[in-house]
Amino acid sequence: SVIIHMTNPKVLLTRTLPPASQNILENSSDIELFHWKDDTVIPRHELLRRVSGVNGILCMLTEKIDAEVLDAAGPSLKVVSTMSVGYDHVDINELRKRNISLGYTPEVLTEATADLTVLLVLASTRRLREGIKTVENGEWSDWSPTGMLGTQLTNKTIGIVGLGRIGEATAFRLKPFLGTDGKIIYYSPTEKKRSVILGAKRVEFDSLLEKSDIICICCSLNEKTKEMFNYSVFKKMKKNVILVNTARGSIIKQDDLVRALSEGLIGAVGLDVTTPEPLDRNHPLLKFPNVTIVPHTGSATLETRTLMGNLAVENVLCGVRGLSLPNAVCS
Ligand code: DGY
Repeated sequence: SVIIHMTNPKVLLTRTLPPASQNILENSSDIELFHWKDDTVIPRHELLRRVSGVNGILCMLTEKIDAEVLDAAGPSLKVVSTMSVGYDHVDINELRKRNISLGYTPEVLTEATADLTVLLVLASTRRLREGIKTVENGEWSDWSPTGMLGTQLTNKTIGIVGLGRIGEATAFRLKPFLGTDGKIIYYSPTEKKRSVILGAKRVEFDSLLEKSDIICICCSLNEKTKEMFNYSVFKKMKKNVILVNTARGSIIKQDDLVRALSEGLIGAVGLDVTTPEPLDRNHPLLKFPNVTIVPHTGSATLETRTLMGNLAVENVLCGVRGLSLPNAVCS
């Protein structure tokens, strides 16, 4: 008689998830879990070694999933589930070629990321970093009628680059700050229906650059948006523009940003994302007092990260069980 050995599907988890999500995965008794337990990004050689023969990968945006990883995994691999909404770290064409599904975590981080975008807009317009430093360094001398003056959002024009879920949630949050004469304009490849509620007008990219007092980068990173913000773009912007990026670092050509800042072309900058991450503490960007940088924390609330973790777990479990993914980029 023939004995068929049915083995449980193998899942490689590259990082420890928020506790609730981790529990769901660990309590899924029909899978065999390979967990990179160090609370560090899995080294590339470990990823390449441990991925061999698995059926599913649950990864983070810190892991580059390319042909080399997929080759190392071999033909057993059915699903890659990233605990992120962005998937520029995954070579989607290589996945498609091999019929591997890709799961991601849209929707659940929209609110948290929009909140952080607003935070960076306010921090940048009101010189929060300089203010905190002044207090901490004992340089806060007295109240002055002209001390630490920032700029106000009332009656300003805000330009949103990429009116997707996060761009739209950001616009809804910022709208009440604008008063009656403020405006929201946006640049997006397609007209967005909900922009009507916002009274937001779709404009060409150059027009957004010329008109905006505040620019929020909320688009995804792809071939079209990579280094979309470069020196010639910075030159087209208003002189005191506030620029905020909560999307991906390489949408901005960072050396050009340094140049534009040193030439005084920009009022203030707020970044949640940089190239590389982490940014070296001696990076020239950190020398400008009008640049505020936070360490890629757009989605970093316990609530949001738990929802992202749960969704990533569901995606990988469905994938290895041969079911369609609840949130698939490709299947
Ligand atoms: C994402 O999900 O793509 C964010 O950058 C991290 O939450």
